Amino acid sequence: MTDRQNHSPPLSREAARALLAWQLAAGADEAVGDAPVDRLAPAAPSAPVSRPAGTGTPGDAATLPASDHGAHDPVMSARARAREATSLEELHHILEGFEGCALRFTAKSLCFADGNPEARVMFVGEAPGAEEDLQGKPFVGRAGRLLDRMLAAIGLDRTSAYITNVVYWRPPGNRTPTPQETQVCRPFIERQIELADPDVIVFLGGAAAKEMLNRSEGILKMRGKWFDYDTGRRTIRAIATLHPAYLLRQPGQKRLAWRDLVAIRKALSD
Ligand code: URA
Repeated sequence: MTDRQNHSPPLSREAARALLAWQLAAGADEAVGDAPVDRLAPAAPSAPVSRPAGTGTPGDAATLPASDHGAHDPVMSARARAREATSLEELHHILEGFEGCALRFTAKSLCFADGNPEARVMFVGEAPGAEEDLQGKPFVGRAGRLLDRMLAAIGLDRTSAYITNVVYWRPPGNRTPTPQETQVCRPFIERQIELADPDVIVFLGGAAAKEMLNRSEGILKMRGKWFDYDTGRRTIRAIATLHPAYLLRQPGQKRLAWRDLVAIRKALSD
């Protein structure tokens, strides 16, 4: 490091604020350590390293636990691991040890599910946000509170609904999960649906609906229609509705969500 770099003038308050704002916009919304790290310092000479499994770059062979070796493709590994689960508890446990999704390295917690796994209706959203990441449960932030009110409107609550997401870890800065992140979680959510075996599935928002129903149209076209979701063993009635986070931004669209809720209530009374 040069003398000039060592003695750079301290940042002004405005410059520091602008730098922080830029970092927040880029998704760095949490400090990860108390001590600052000088990433411009010359690198120490590298020695050959032997890494235990599970400590490498996400998705590379060394990152995968022992049972994942032989399936270096994280999606193949996810399929194999998801198939091993014979109960929701086992699936939860397998996901806790699964290192094939890069998001687990930036998230604080795994958000597996909330609510009653025996419920007749299962709600599936996109991915956890900041509050969910802190609490390790899906839909516990602002959108989750609106979801609770939507459930209450048709006589449901978290004892009579099972709630999860397509992606189990929070994407940094709440960005949209990448196709790779979604693909690697997909075998687990498919298995979770199969094991929970609800009578009705409600996909919350376009991202979850498009992914799980393999469709390309927008949520405003898809919502309110019934689809068949095939688990391979059984066909489950599935419907898509507007995501509560979208309804917080567009409260005028709540009338459409209400129609979907009425259809869900009717399906549950059949
Ligand atoms: N949005 C989602 O899709 N899922 C959550 O758990 C929270 C917000």
